[in-house]
Amino acid sequence: MAPDNGNPASDSPYQRAFDQSRDDANGFWLRQSERIHWFRKPSTGVSRDTDGVDRWFADGQLNTAWLALDAQIEAGRGEQIALIYDSPVTGTTQAFTYKQLTDQVARTAGALAGLGVGKGDRVVIYMPMVPEAVVGMLACARLGAIHSVVFGGFAARELAVRIDDAQPRVVLSASCGIEVDRVIAYKPLLDAALAQADHQPDATLILQRPQARAELQPGRDHDWHERVGAAAPVDAVPVQATDPLYILYTSGTTGKPKGVVRDNGGHAVAMHYSMEVVYGMKPGEVFWAASDVGWVVGHSYIVYAPLIYGCTTVLYEGKPVRTPDAAAFWRVVEAYRVNALFTAPTAFRAIRKEDPDGAMLARHDLSSLKRLFLAGERLDPPTYQWLKQLTGLPVLDHWWQTETGWAIACNPVGLEAMAEKPGSATRPTPGFQVEILDEEGQPLAPGEQGAVCIRQPLPPGCLCGIWGDPQRLRTSYFTAFPGYYLSGDGGYFDQDGYLFIMGRTDDVINVAGHRLSTGEMEEIVASHPAVAECAVFGVADELKGQLPLGLVVLKDGAEQAPEQIVSELVAGVREQIGAVACFRRAVIVERLPKTRSGKILRRVLRQIANGEEYATPSTIDDPAILEEITKRLGSS
Ligand code: COA
Ligand code: AMP
Repeated sequence: MAPDNGNPASDSPYQRAFDQSRDDANGFWLRQSERIHWFRKPSTGVSRDTDGVDRWFADGQLNTAWLALDAQIEAGRGEQIALIYDSPVTGTTQAFTYKQLTDQVARTAGALAGLGVGKGDRVVIYMPMVPEAVVGMLACARLGAIHSVVFGGFAARELAVRIDDAQPRVVLSASCGIEVDRVIAYKPLLDAALAQADHQPDATLILQRPQARAELQPGRDHDWHERVGAAAPVDAVPVQATDPLYILYTSGTTGKPKGVVRDNGGHAVAMHYSMEVVYGMKPGEVFWAASDVGWVVGHSYIVYAPLIYGCTTVLYEGKPVRTPDAAAFWRVVEAYRVNALFTAPTAFRAIRKEDPDGAMLARHDLSSLKRLFLAGERLDPPTYQWLKQLTGLPVLDHWWQTETGWAIACNPVGLEAMAEKPGSATRPTPGFQVEILDEEGQPLAPGEQGAVCIRQPLPPGCLCGIWGDPQRLRTSYFTAFPGYYLSGDGGYFDQDGYLFIMGRTDDVINVAGHRLSTGEMEEIVASHPAVAECAVFGVADELKGQLPLGLVVLKDGAEQAPEQIVSELVAGVREQIGAVACFRRAVIVERLPKTRSGKILRRVLRQIANGEEYATPSTIDDPAILEEITKRLGSS
């Protein structure tokens, strides 16, 4: 039992695991690696590759799709439901046993092989939340091909950038997605992306959905059902533990997204371990990550971890509200006897807005539900309190990133449940040696806020490269503080060793749990012919956590009306990044506050826009600007 202050005793299960993972990382993770099936067991834990990157289990061989599917059948789970698809937007539900899912994946892998896809080839997947998206990912893994899923809410240009970077042999897509009651045709977006991209895939495989049929270009585009229906199943191909399983692009501080590369072996071990330790699950139970396969949460906890661990996973094509109402999540929990629900705080804020007293929640039988897990952004204490009061369940915040692939800090309920502290992600997960550093790289004392860093080596499952850019891996993450991974988040430990993550220290913002780059938005806004310069940054929003706001200085003599320019800027970001950017507000100002050396003072702009107290920076070139901007924002 944890003492009342939440501090585990030195011989507690958590502390023992944490200490072992720190003092003997190789021994600790090699023991964990014994718990999954390998085609060839690894004899080494962590080793440095020729690029100087720490790699796990270098001499092991396995296949991730085989682990997630065939191994489960061998373990007697063939008739257990592996995947439940629930789609309020189409009024469809469907369940696949492990046997059925394996068959689908093996045939789809056959269809991909027929289109020339083999080990190491890339396949871009641009699909809505349909079972074929999961099948497509697993089919790639079965062949040892590398998938790169692009979130369906991204616009054609974002897709084109990823296609050029990943250079896929094949693109998997669908005729459309459905946003509440709006049919969004995906195929024209794919066509536009391919028209913009320099790289052209050999083929596309298109899932025709009844809500909108896509035009197929003969010779290039193939019908999913026809191809898969005619394909023979293929077996899993053994890959090296260090071979890439997938690339997942995420927003960095510049316009060019970073292709985070995940390996097979370390990832599989980490996924398995996390299901037990972070989520306290047992094989056979039902896990629901209400996220999207386009995000890391979807990769790890809709697809890979639940299946590798022998759970049933739920794929939900809907929203927390409006499909049809704020009881949507509770309906799904009741219908499938969900044992653990994981989503972003913003989803619960949306539900709370429409069902503040929980009247809708009360109409559902939630007795199967043991725990609620929240991540993607800070779990704000009011949302925590609301959930706690209404459900009486453990409400567990945990902190992680696309780069790590699983929780850096959590309440390790599979080892021991610790006292919950609103606003804290609890303790570092075994394997992650988290430290708070000051600007000089010196460790800070409890209560002092600084850069949240992780001492190397990172545990299995974390990024092992930036696709095509080994230099960027070093400069983005391992250069600021030698020997440490720089998370990009600021935060502190309290006196009890609880970790509080307070937000990004760079140009990344989190809008409704979606990670976006303000740098990228700035590039788009700045490219408008009437714009002289601009700053885009995140301001607090009650529902979505943050929303982007642009401050724009126009060129002298701009001919269009300011309102016209603003609407073009908003439309430009929507067209180039996608609706998901939620860039709806741009304010025209005379000047931007800068240091004497010409750097825009973003921090003070953020503080002004959020109505926070600010100190006028001593380096500012003209302090009067701040008052002007305060007035301008107040009246806009
Ligand atoms: N395909 C196409 N368009 C999409 C899309 C997709 N997959 N996902 C979102 N969009 C569009 C939306 O339709 C909306 O368009 P609009 O501006 O024309 O209305 C826009 O992008 C913004 O979407 P979103 O931020 O999702 O806002 P919303 O008002 O539709 O919903 C929430 C608000 C809070 C309900 C929703 O954001 C949510 O459920 N968030 C949880 C996010 C999550 O799971 N994150 C993963 C981390 S765990
Ligand atoms: P992503 O890579 O999209 O998962 O976004 C990662 C970023 O989301 C982190 O760097 C944090 O800024 C934020 N984040 C994720 N989970 C949490 C959390 N539990 N608490 C605070 N911030 C979080």
